[in-house]
Amino acid sequence: MKYKVLEMLKQNPQGFVSGEEISERLKVSRTAIWKYINQLRESGYGIESQTKNGYRLVSVPDSVTEGEILSLLNTEVIGRKMIYYDRLDSTNTHAKKLAEGDFHDGTVVVADEQTAGKGRLGRQWVSSKGKGIWMTILLKPDIDPSDAAKTTVLAACAVCRAVEKCCGLNAAIKWPNDVVYGGRKLCGILTEMSAEGEQIRFLIIGIGINVNFVPEDFSEDLTDKATSILKETGKHIPRKELAAEVLNAFETVYRDFIAHNGSIQFIIEEYKARSAVLGKDVRVFFKKEEIVGMAVDITEEGQLVVEMQDGSRREILSGEVSVRGMHGYI
Ligand code: BTN
Repeated sequence: MKYKVLEMLKQNPQGFVSGEEISERLKVSRTAIWKYINQLRESGYGIESQTKNGYRLVSVPDSVTEGEILSLLNTEVIGRKMIYYDRLDSTNTHAKKLAEGDFHDGTVVVADEQTAGKGRLGRQWVSSKGKGIWMTILLKPDIDPSDAAKTTVLAACAVCRAVEKCCGLNAAIKWPNDVVYGGRKLCGILTEMSAEGEQIRFLIIGIGINVNFVPEDFSEDLTDKATSILKETGKHIPRKELAAEVLNAFETVYRDFIAHNGSIQFIIEEYKARSAVLGKDVRVFFKKEEIVGMAVDITEEGQLVVEMQDGSRREILSGEVSVRGMHGYI
């Protein structure tokens, strides 16, 4: 209900909205409205009140609440149900719990802070309060489970499109699914799936974007590896706008993916064009093996093709890739 009150205030950006009008439209008491206004203030909204005129919205916080993101979505499925938490262990962990029950396809779980953010390969993902976009999309696609991992390709492209549009940064994709800028990580994607036979029970796509971190926020081991939108642009980009744009872009590519029955043929050229590894000397750790050579292609299955010195080629399904630069492999 408090978001409905907020919506009414937003519809009147310049003027006041009287308590009476809100009360009549939303069919709640004036006391209840006063309570919702105070809750909104506690969440950081600046709301002016005048006895005669009512309420006026004067400022909005940089928040990623469902009310803020929903009003910027142009999707039909993705994010139509959105659940926001000020603080959560991990949006992926929570999405998995939701997935055990009945859930709306396209549900998004978003948190302002994660206390146990999960990265790939069991790593920790730093998810400080207000510093980024920490969200998970919960899906139930009717595709072969063997095609599910390709959705990380979709998510990486969607993040790049959104970062370009909202922040003016031409980010790249470090295979398989890191979004990087200037060689440093801007965003990580963690896809997890549960399937029964040929049927996907649920697929969750966790997206973490570093937005407001300043260099001092990064621990020593991350300084050379991670970056943020603020660090690269010098600007505070409203997180809700970037989050909504990622979801809008994701729906566009996801719809095509489903229409193409789990094929990424329609987006592979964009994925390759955005690649930070193609044409570079790379070192890939795959299982316990180290593969060194030049990254020459990415297949329609999302596999990285590495050409070794003897001219032979390997198609690698997943792994950790380092690109050879002036200072060795980074
Ligand atoms: C990586 O290691 O690159 C993947 C990082 C994924 C982080 C995101 S933040 C939102 C979602 N919830 C998590 O616990 N992890 C993912």
